[in-house]
Amino acid sequence: MDMTIKKAVIPVAGLGTRFLPATKAIPKEMLTIVDRPTIQYIVEEVVASNIKEVVLVSASGKSAIENHFDYSFELETFLSQKGKFELLREVRHISRLINIVSVRQKEPLGLGHAVMVTETVVGDEPFVVVLGDDLVDSEVPCVYQMIKVFNRLQESVVAVERVPHSEVNRYGIVEGEEIEKGVFKVRRLIEKPSPNVTRSNLAIIGRYVLRPEIFSSLKRTLPGIGGEIQLTDALDNLRKERSLYAYEFNGRRFDAGDKLGFLKATVTYALEHPDVGAEFANYIKTVASAL
Ligand code: UTP
Repeated sequence: MDMTIKKAVIPVAGLGTRFLPATKAIPKEMLTIVDRPTIQYIVEEVVASNIKEVVLVSASGKSAIENHFDYSFELETFLSQKGKFELLREVRHISRLINIVSVRQKEPLGLGHAVMVTETVVGDEPFVVVLGDDLVDSEVPCVYQMIKVFNRLQESVVAVERVPHSEVNRYGIVEGEEIEKGVFKVRRLIEKPSPNVTRSNLAIIGRYVLRPEIFSSLKRTLPGIGGEIQLTDALDNLRKERSLYAYEFNGRRFDAGDKLGFLKATVTYALEHPDVGAEFANYIKTVASAL
C-alpha cells in the first residue's frame, strides 16, 4: 500500500440547518468570511499541506462550490479585457488551486456515510478528511501537523481539542492515554455522550487522517445517534482492530457552520487581514468601549 497522502475528502453534503435561513439557497460553505468563502480557507489549508486532489462529497444545491474552484472563461476574459489584472490573478489562483472530483451523497445519511461514498475514488491508500465548515487558524496548517503525526505512527489520527465538560454531548469524544505530548492512544470513542458517561473532554474536530481500512469499518457500522452513520462509531470499530491516535493540534478552531462560531471566525480573520485589520481593530475597540 502506498502510504503517501495525496487526497483530501471534503464532505459538504450536510443541510446546514443551524444556519437557516442563510443556507436555504446558498451552501454554508459558501458564506463569506471577510473576503472569501469558508470553503476556500479549507482548500487553502489542504493545498498548504501539499495535497492537490480534492474529493468533494456534494449534494443537490451545492454546485456553487464546484463553480467557485472551476475555470470561468467569461469572467477571466472580461477581467483581462478591462485590464483588471490584480482581480484576474486572484480569480485564476482559485481555479488553479486543486483538481476536484465530486461524488454525490444522494441522501444525508451522516458523515460516516459521506466518507463511505468516496471509497472507489479514494482507493486503497490513506487520505485526509477535512470538514467544509470547520476552520482552523494556525501557523502550521492543521492538516500538515496531522500528516506529520501519521507519517511517524502509520495509523489513523483524529484531531482533538479540549472542550468544557458540559459540552461533550455536542461532539465525538475520545478516551485514551497520552503517549507523548499532544498524542493520545485511543481506547474508546463515543458520539455525543451525555457528560455523566465520560470523564474525557477531548472532542474530535473536523480533521482526520484515515487508513483505507476505515471503509470496511464503515460498512459494518449501523446508524447511530440521529439515525445517521457516524464516522465516530466507525472509528470505534476500527480501533478494535488497529491502533488509532488522537492529536491535540496547535491552533484555534472555529465551527463556521454555527452562527456564533462564524461570527468569532469573522472577527479573528478580519483582525489578521492585511487590508482591513488595522482599521477593523480600531472599530472593535470603539464598539467594545461602548459596551
Ligand atoms: P454537521 O452536522 O455540522 O452539518 O456535519 P450539517 O448537517 O450540514 O449541519 P446542521 O447541523 O444541519 O446545521 C458535519 C459535516 O459533515 C457533512 C456536513 O456537510 C459537514 O461538513 N455531512 C453531514 C455530510 O456531508 N453528509 C451528511 O449526511 C451529514
